[in-house]
Amino acid sequence: MNTQTNFDLVLFGATGDLAMRKLLPCLYQAHVAGLLHPAGRILGVSRSELDTAGFLAKVETNSKIHIKQNFSEEAWASFIKRIHYLTVDVTNPDDFKTLADTVKARKETDNVVVYLSTAPKFFAPACAELANVGLNGGNVRIVLEKPLGTDLKSSQEINTDVARYFKEEQVYRIDHYLGKEALQNLLALRFANLVFEPLWNNKYVKSVQLTIAEQLGVEERGEFYDITGALRDMVQNHLMQMLCMTAMEAPKSLDADDVRDEKLKVIKSLKPLTSADVDADVVRAQYTENKGMNGYLQEHNVPAGSRTETYVAVKAEINNERWAGVPFYLRTGKRMAGKVAEIVLNFRDLPNHIFENSQPAPNRLVIELQPTESVRLYTQVKTPGAGNKVELTALSVDMGKAIQGRRAEAYERLLLDVINGKLALFNRRDELEAAWEWVMPIMENWENSPTPPHGYAADSWGPEAARELLARNGDKWHEEQ
Ligand code: BG6
Repeated sequence: MNTQTNFDLVLFGATGDLAMRKLLPCLYQAHVAGLLHPAGRILGVSRSELDTAGFLAKVETNSKIHIKQNFSEEAWASFIKRIHYLTVDVTNPDDFKTLADTVKARKETDNVVVYLSTAPKFFAPACAELANVGLNGGNVRIVLEKPLGTDLKSSQEINTDVARYFKEEQVYRIDHYLGKEALQNLLALRFANLVFEPLWNNKYVKSVQLTIAEQLGVEERGEFYDITGALRDMVQNHLMQMLCMTAMEAPKSLDADDVRDEKLKVIKSLKPLTSADVDADVVRAQYTENKGMNGYLQEHNVPAGSRTETYVAVKAEINNERWAGVPFYLRTGKRMAGKVAEIVLNFRDLPNHIFENSQPAPNRLVIELQPTESVRLYTQVKTPGAGNKVELTALSVDMGKAIQGRRAEAYERLLLDVINGKLALFNRRDELEAAWEWVMPIMENWENSPTPPHGYAADSWGPEAARELLARNGDKWHEEQ
């Protein structure tokens, strides 16, 4: 498929980490795959005083190394011809005039994508200046990188400011988890098959676990991370999106608003947490020194005595007919014993059993987003030989092996969707604000709580308190099952 949409992609924050590590390499992959209009142009923009050659030199050293496949010097040479650079200071109106002239000088441009890969405090001023120079017409789309605010109020303020200059259908709020193939596959699994959906409810499912575990610590991001923490960095967005995709009803169609309406209903059906619920059902923790690895408090740029959480586990409940009574356990952590993102549905016990085992373990469906994209349905089968015992075995599909074809990284899919005007994999304002609203009581409780975060050893699966959270309901985290 060759997109017919010609574009100018204006990339604010072009010298930053995200642009260098992800956005440019993903655009390269789209270029190699023939998915970019031949005349599509990438206009890197930042405060740094550089010209195009200077910027390309940075791209050469900082970005090229992140291209892990399909690299050839020839393709690279043709890709970088798309790249131009302009120095723009967000507080300087004249710079925006030059930007507008550069973009408008190109008559054949079908649409303009402005990607704000900057700190959120620049979103409103950048939008105002863009509007000032007429770069907010119907052919302009604006992409907002997370974190979109630090709480409900600040996210509402940003959204209100942006809405002064751009219509909702021009705004693309990124959550890169929605760009992951495996998360989109969940919709196919649920809604393009007959066999799963009838079981996908509180009659058959006992509990659901959503995990994003990372092995890395906060690395060099101590300063950003310390004012952010795992709740804002991962729960409010990535885990919330995994929850929505797992729990939502079938949308009327895959059109953007049909999908987003259903996701919103899930967030709105989450049982609001009281402060007592937060005490009982939310665990926050920080990694501590272990096996030669720093504890969080020893990391670079982390202030002494910081209470910022690097781990969160939450027991959430969805008050609707399908899910009432089923705990949804959400957890994420840095410096955990493994890197995995997965959704686990634990089914209920058999009401009656006739095999020799005292109680065969219940079925379990594991949808792994990463490191491998796989679906495993743990099923009882007969243990070979005499006797009538059964044992749990996975019916397992590794998507990468089962289905040939190039698997694009999340950001590639999302960038192409913006260029082509497809909003389904981006957050609508009401969704995002509903997600903030739900996490607010957790933040408020922590701010006022005399109790510090729990500790968990670096390279472990989290604090004991998180184990206890599940044990109360007779549940266990997946790695212990
Ligand atoms: C980002 C967070 O949004 O997601 C990071 O800011 C985190 O802290 C990252 O490491 C995880 O993404 P992925 O795709 O590697 O699971």
